[in-house]
Amino acid sequence: MPQFFFALSLIALVLMLAAVWQAGTPSWKRYQQEYHRLESLGEPNAAAKAAVLNTGLDIRQDLLPGLQRVDRCTTCHQGVEDPTMKNAAQPFTFHPNLAPHVVAKFGCTVCHGGQGLATDKENAHGRVPFWPEPLLPKEYIRASCGRCHKEGEVPGVPELTEGRRLFESTGCRGCHKLNGVGGSIGKDLTEEGAVRRYPEWLERHFLNPNAVSPNSPMPNFHFTREQARALTFYMLSLTNEQMGSYYSSVRLIPSAGFGRQLFTEKNCIACHSIGGVGAKAGPDLLGVTKAHSAGWLDEQLVNPQLLYPGSTMPAYDLETNARKALITFMAAATPEDAQTILSGRPKPLSAEEAAIEGGRQSFARFGCVGCHGLNLQGGVPNPNSQGGEVPSLLHASDDYTKDEVIKIIRNGKQPPLENTAKPAPPLYMPSWKVVLTDEDINRIADYLWSLQSKKSGW
Ligand code: HEC
Ligand code: HEC
Ligand code: HEC
Ligand code: HEC
Ligand code: HEC
Ligand code: HEC
Repeated sequence: MPQFFFALSLIALVLMLAAVWQAGTPSWKRYQQEYHRLESLGEPNAAAKAAVLNTGLDIRQDLLPGLQRVDRCTTCHQGVEDPTMKNAAQPFTFHPNLAPHVVAKFGCTVCHGGQGLATDKENAHGRVPFWPEPLLPKEYIRASCGRCHKEGEVPGVPELTEGRRLFESTGCRGCHKLNGVGGSIGKDLTEEGAVRRYPEWLERHFLNPNAVSPNSPMPNFHFTREQARALTFYMLSLTNEQMGSYYSSVRLIPSAGFGRQLFTEKNCIACHSIGGVGAKAGPDLLGVTKAHSAGWLDEQLVNPQLLYPGSTMPAYDLETNARKALITFMAAATPEDAQTILSGRPKPLSAEEAAIEGGRQSFARFGCVGCHGLNLQGGVPNPNSQGGEVPSLLHASDDYTKDEVIKIIRNGKQPPLENTAKPAPPLYMPSWKVVLTDEDINRIADYLWSLQSKKSGW
């Protein structure tokens, strides 16, 4: 027995010595030496080369209190800010397209994941069992832009815009909460990107929830691969992190693309023309950014009355960057833009049509479509309920009066069991009275009825 313990402590000693030895020559030192060798190649003479080769080795770190992290990635990734390293191998390569996100203020992990404090590769890259946020695979890195730029479009990342649109229009909120609004049949998604599911998991789950989570009540929406990827981007961007005010100051990037979207949504073309194309109630906007300063134009959007007393132009309640986006768009807008906007414009709605349209949008936005289907056709499987699926709403008027339907929406409804010995169906009709105003509910009922009337006469 004593021999055994002796052998054991001998092994422990050897292991300890090995650890001490390793700590003495950590891998980052080798990377820095190699980097200095690369740098020295560019030096003109022997003295300069020797000076570079003899540069001290040290752990580099960026302190980022506003992001609640400390990143040491540049200890090895030494060339990220040196354009002459553009063709160097990793980890020394110059990082293109980083501006205006300077390394000293942003570090790396806020976009890439990984473990900022670690100085050996496996740990830093977070590809170790205990670290919840391994490096994002290359094709998903851009999802992180949405952690800070939460509204409008992020240039070069159309996936985020599309993912958000799909989220708001396909009824996810029927079962999931996001920032406090939504149902509770599925998980709250407010921090979905922080309690990291692997991106590949999310994407496969969107393509077919049942293939990943057997018996999932989440419907298969038959998304295309692009749509599944867009939703995955959006999910990865939802981290609900507390960041310093500098980092969250650009929620909305004032891009021309977003300006165009606003110009279309706000229907500016109903009064204005660009290069002669459009309406004539207001001045033509071609070259308007040359005739007036940015400050003047900004004021015109906030308060047209100030610059043109008695103006018919509405005052727009837009945040600073949204106004900047509009001005950026106007600076580049052409008559062709006006033409496209005009041809894509929906026809004007009557008051009654507008109310029904409002109901249709609420039906999508509050998640009814997630359970009842985009076209109200029902059909989402609901095991052990009578009928086995969520009912279609296309014939609700056969069974109920409008007031009864309003009551069901307000109070919710449990589907009757098919077999009392089995567990209750996973899906039920939630109560909406705390979430929706009576006005919303009435509009939704009007919308449902507008579709019933089309079916009547049969
Ligand atoms: C000990 C040195 C070292 C540290 C510290 C380090 N890296 Fe790396 N990194 C490398 C090397 C070497 C490569 C080249 C590819 C390889 O060998 O895996 C690399 C490749 C990468 C890649 C591209 C390839 C991939 O695997 O996705 C990314 C992205 C990356 N590192 C990000 C980071 C981030 C972010 C940090 C800080 C949290 C970091 N690295 C810290 C050494 C390091
Ligand atoms: C503002 C977000 C952002 C920050 C901050 C950032 N990166 Fe990147 N990084 C990206 C994006 C986006 C890509 C490109 C992905 C692509 O090509 O589609 C990228 C690419 C890379 C690659 C090449 C990946 C590959 O597989 O080829 C490496 C290595 C890398 N970054 C390292 C770093 C390091 C080290 C830092 C910190 C000094 C850092 N990045 C900071 C967004 C960022
Ligand atoms: C940690 C938060 C954060 C992340 C992540 C982030 N940004 Fe930014 N971004 C900012 C801040 C803050 C600024 C303003 C920088 C400044 O001017 O000092 C900015 C500025 C910008 C601008 C210029 C905006 C202008 O006013 O014209 C663009 C474009 C941009 N970011 C795109 C991206 C893209 C693309 C990504 C992903 C690869 C990304 N950002 C990731 C915070 C972030
Ligand atoms: C009919 C209810 C329902 C609808 C509608 C629904 N989900 Fe789900 N979702 C669930 C349930 C239940 C789970 C848990 C079982 C599973 O993993 O599939 C889930 C799981 C998830 C997960 C994995 C969460 C995690 O980390 O475990 C994500 C992400 C998700 N849903 C996103 C969405 C998005 C985005 C939409 C809209 C396109 C949506 N869901 C629509 C019920 C629903
Ligand atoms: C989580 C899934 C889910 C969501 C979200 C949901 N419903 Fe339902 N709904 C159901 C189920 C299940 C029933 C069937 C209840 C029963 O069989 O008694 C139902 C029943 C109904 C009925 C009665 C139809 C009938 O034939 O009994 C109406 C009307 C209705 N829902 C409207 C809505 C509206 C409007 C919304 C959005 C504000 C909504 N539902 C959101 C699951 C849902
Ligand atoms: C109801 C009609 C109407 C709408 C809608 C409208 N405008 Fe105007 N706008 C005017 C009129 C009229 C003027 C001329 C000055 C005045 O009388 O206020 C004007 C002036 C302007 C000017 C200053 C032009 C100059 O040369 O002095 C700008 C810029 C402008 N509008 C931009 C916009 C944008 C951008 C939108 C959409 C967000 C918009 N307008 C929506 C009616 C409208």
